[in-house]
Amino acid sequence: MIDQITAPDWQQLRYRFPVLEKKTYLNSCSYGALAIEVEASLQRYLRARADNGADWGYWVGRNEAVRKSMARLLGAESDEVAITASASAGINSLASALKFDGPRNKVVITDFEFPTNAQIWYAQELRGARVVRLAEEDGRIPLEKYEEAIDEETLIVATAQIAYRHGAKQDIAAIAEIARRKGALTLVDSYQALGTMQFDVKQAGVDFVVGGMLKYLLGTAGIAFLYVRQGIVDSLTPTATGWFAQEDITAMDITQYSPSHSARRFEAGTPAVPNTYMAEAGLAILHELGLEAIEQRIGELTTLIKDAATDAAYSLSSPLNPSCHGAMITLRSSDDNRLVASLAEDNIVVSCRDGNLRIAPHFYNNQADIEHLFHALHQRRELLV
Ligand SMILES: Cc1ncc(COP(=O)(O)O)c(C=O)c1O
Repeated sequence: MIDQITAPDWQQLRYRFPVLEKKTYLNSCSYGALAIEVEASLQRYLRARADNGADWGYWVGRNEAVRKSMARLLGAESDEVAITASASAGINSLASALKFDGPRNKVVITDFEFPTNAQIWYAQELRGARVVRLAEEDGRIPLEKYEEAIDEETLIVATAQIAYRHGAKQDIAAIAEIARRKGALTLVDSYQALGTMQFDVKQAGVDFVVGGMLKYLLGTAGIAFLYVRQGIVDSLTPTATGWFAQEDITAMDITQYSPSHSARRFEAGTPAVPNTYMAEAGLAILHELGLEAIEQRIGELTTLIKDAATDAAYSLSSPLNPSCHGAMITLRSSDDNRLVASLAEDNIVVSCRDGNLRIAPHFYNNQADIEHLFHALHQRRELLV
């Protein structure tokens, strides 16, 4: 669905991200640029505290607003979204609800995972899980690998939509279809995808999605979410829990555990109140611009990056095909840490992982940013492969 009829004026909205005046900021895979609305929202929280002390009713309302906004972004219902402190917290809560003592105890992960989505599942080996990790082949995980690995012993497939090391994108709907056909659940780590592209959890047919608000969702660290498909919420009872996960938060009941009937059962304690203010404001910007327009804009920017890299004969580690990569384009480097540090001297903010220079634009970047980066890269050619 198109949220917006006329295309946003990308150049005009740059003033809303003050860092763009000081830096060539191409590091949204690591942390999104701070918008003036997001900063103002945090200021409102601080002002309200200074003026009123505590305002719990309003604060809990902010958390609910983030839940609703996140649900809208995912094509889900609010009841299907838990607001957590991190993606790790959401995965841990989910893992705590799974049982590994039956015939289905296998967890399929891949080489694409961010460490947390591997480490938490390996930790479940202490509870009887068997983790099988699919190997990357030429920067991708072929679907046939999933077909082979997912079987009648598989409980869950936990994998990343976009690999944080090099930006390769997976066909999540196809993976979820294989898992469903074989009776397994699917968890997607969409941290590097959400906010850059349209993603409808119902169309994708996934059971769980995790992500957080500090990168392309334009919020801040310390606030994240877990989507849980409505049909399975009640069948999963987390053993990692807390008072905000109970059916009635105000019951203050110390005699029993009564988990909420919604995805809120995957939450734990007091929400990170300042972070909810920032996350709400960040998500509002995405809704204002519309993900269809944002996806198209990012597609134009990533094309410019790939063209500039190809013209200079730099070695790309992300795929060339636009349907196979996300917002992040990566280049092989002989010394990626030195390259990032050296670019920082020219006020260019990028990041690196695993020998790859990660160039991660968001809708607020422009052609001049990319030209500035490549001008600087040409001067450091010896650090590129
Ligand atoms: C793909 C992916 N998953 C997870 C995380 C981090 O998760 P958490 O919120 O637990 O720190 C990151 C952050 O860099 C990420 O890129």
